[in-house]
Amino acid sequence: MTAAAARAVLNLAPPARGVEEAGIAERVIAWQRQHGRHTLPWQNTRDPYRVWLSEIMLQQTQVATVLGYYTRFLDRFSDVQALAAAPLDDVLALWSGLGYYSRARHLHRCAQAVVAAHGGQFPATSAALQTLPGIGRSTAAAIAAFCFGERVAILDGNVKRVLTRVLGFDGDLAEPAQERALWQRATALLPEHGIESYTQGLMDLGATLCTPRSPKCLICPLSAGCVAAAQSDPERYPVKTRKLKRRRRDQVWLWLQWQGRVWLVRRPESGVWAGLWSWPEFDTAQAAAAASAAWPGTGEWLPSFTHALTHFDWTLRPLRWTLPPDAGPAAVDSLVAVWPGGRWCCIEEARAMGLPAPLRKLLG
Ligand code: ADE
Ligand code: SF4
Repeated sequence: MTAAAARAVLNLAPPARGVEEAGIAERVIAWQRQHGRHTLPWQNTRDPYRVWLSEIMLQQTQVATVLGYYTRFLDRFSDVQALAAAPLDDVLALWSGLGYYSRARHLHRCAQAVVAAHGGQFPATSAALQTLPGIGRSTAAAIAAFCFGERVAILDGNVKRVLTRVLGFDGDLAEPAQERALWQRATALLPEHGIESYTQGLMDLGATLCTPRSPKCLICPLSAGCVAAAQSDPERYPVKTRKLKRRRRDQVWLWLQWQGRVWLVRRPESGVWAGLWSWPEFDTAQAAAAASAAWPGTGEWLPSFTHALTHFDWTLRPLRWTLPPDAGPAAVDSLVAVWPGGRWCCIEEARAMGLPAPLRKLLG
């Protein structure tokens, strides 16, 4: 069925495209072919496993950071079957330092769903891809465009910026109706041919020229006809009013050592560092002092550091407490019993586990 026939069946209007919008896709494609990125390790392949992995890693992380992780990950898990069969802890360990660990947990579940429900083959449409764990509308579209040539719009952060500027789209993207409207505009701009170059080109434009600050309009292929450039104020796009109130949290991080081992506890399945192995926390220095008053051994306060998360700044002050080597196992057991599910690990063991990046750094 042709696209037009499909639209007729679905009773949809053909996508409207203004005269000034007509050349946008063509210029993006021509620019991508000449100036865009072509040698990233997840390009020049139509293997959905590789493309999917890259898209998930790139969701909240820059290309330069992803490169090393991507290679290590593929060395260890060369296909979706290998990933699905791996223990979650191995996946989290390889993800350690990339952040936003729910991505890694979803990745693992997605691999298992592909194996269990799709015979080890990723589904070949954006609609079906979207039903898998951790794959949202834009990620599904990127995979479908790159691997299967599906003509479908993406709208990640970079692309939102490019399109709102070119179109002068000043609707508030905090409002779902405006977000839907932008998806429609993005769909109307799609080229008939060359979806792969177009999709990659929009991403590359957003990453290299149409940057959040000081976009390089002078050398941008879209500057002729770009509404934001004509207004000489590209930075006012995209418009998104709802500001997250940043909160802060100050806690003590207990680095407990005994006989060359550290006490690690598994973090909850949701929230910050979900599912990683970490150190116990106290809400205040007073609480840590009160709890440790009866412990054998000595404590040492280390410099605090602040970890910036999406919704708050988290300041952690490590308290390194060393229990004497001859402390009795019974006394030690009762001391750590307040953190159920934890375990004593030697440094080598700990390094092989999924750890928050700052903890890994402190362990040395
Ligand atoms: N960000 C998200 N997807 C990307 C891709 N395919 N190439 C470069 N950056 C990206
Ligand atoms: Fe972005 Fe400037 Fe290009 Fe417009 S002309 S798309 S604002 S870089």
